[in-house]
Amino acid sequence: MAKTVLEVRELTTRYITRFRESIYAVDHVSLKVDEGRSLGIAGESGCGKSTLALSLMGYYFPPLYYTSGQIIVDERNITGMDPDDVRKTILGNEVSYIPQAAMNALNPTRRVINFIEDVIQAHRPETTKREIYDMARERFELLGLPPEVLEKFPVELSGGMKQRTVIATSVILSPKVLVADEPSSALDVTSQKMVIKMVMDLMEKGIIKALVFITHELPLLYNVTDDIMVMYAGQVVERGTAQETVFDPIHPYTRALMGSIIVPEAGLRGVKLAAIPGTPPNLKRPPSGCRFAERCKYAMPECRAASVDLHETKAGRAYRCIIPEEDLRRLYKNEQ
Ligand SMILES: Nc1ncnc2c1ncn2[C@@H]1O[C@H](COP(=O)(O)OP(=O)(O)OP(=O)(O)O)[C@@H](O)[C@H]1O
Ligand SMILES: [Mg+2]
Repeated sequence: MAKTVLEVRELTTRYITRFRESIYAVDHVSLKVDEGRSLGIAGESGCGKSTLALSLMGYYFPPLYYTSGQIIVDERNITGMDPDDVRKTILGNEVSYIPQAAMNALNPTRRVINFIEDVIQAHRPETTKREIYDMARERFELLGLPPEVLEKFPVELSGGMKQRTVIATSVILSPKVLVADEPSSALDVTSQKMVIKMVMDLMEKGIIKALVFITHELPLLYNVTDDIMVMYAGQVVERGTAQETVFDPIHPYTRALMGSIIVPEAGLRGVKLAAIPGTPPNLKRPPSGCRFAERCKYAMPECRAASVDLHETKAGRAYRCIIPEEDLRRLYKNEQ
């Protein structure tokens, strides 16, 4: 059986606002990524994708607080570890994390090679500058990046090149897992493709052993990851293989997300074919029943009565809806 590289069990984290209100942006979320597998996390803006990424990396700084659950990296439970130890021994070394919009946050006064020196020296302080340069050059060549980039300042690089540089830098120590938050968003279509190819190369070339790829564009994941987890209002609403989730969704929200495909158009970032009507609930006061009920065209009074559990199917999938899978399929069929 394949080894599990990253596992999250029933993780709940919350923001506490200045007015002492709690926002449960990650609510009992569980996930598992085995060696050789990639997991995509999809959902609309504000559903908790970035908060989940921060939470599973142990980045707890006010206003974000750990509430309950476990995070297991390569069989080590990091939930109970000292945050400084997590930073020193796990982050960048065992697990790498590329925050959303990381490429826009690069220090403009430093060259690419300096960022790489920071990552390597944080974990292997004995490495010389010459060794670092050789490691970086070899890795950049392997990933199809011109080594001249190492001498450049961020401002001298195009958006796509900057993002690929951020990715190459973050995996310089060949971590077991890479968690990338929207690495291809905000780029033109050609750069998006190159970024996605590079992320897939990391797996194929054995630089990383597992991948977590976060995006708000569910259909994009079909070509990128093996499995998909769909989030809505801080909770997991569906889980399955990429093929199943994209082409044969069970949950009405996943189906609705598939209908809100962004079509790229020259000169524009994209055109939304059909948005999901309504807006997600306010996480300060989430509804007590199904969180998607307000926007779901199949909702019944029972949906709003009590919280809904995630049901595991015999086929190894999972969905959070009180309507049985067969009935949902019948409803979908009748619409065609
Ligand atoms: N610093 C913060 N303080 C309070 N609430 C926050 C904070 N950051 C995020 N939130 C709230 O937490 C929820 C989840 O936000 P998060 O950024 O994780 O969503 P996301 O799925 O990553 O969205 P996007 O697709 O826009 O990146 C939202 O309701 C958001 O308003
Ligand atoms: Mg985000």
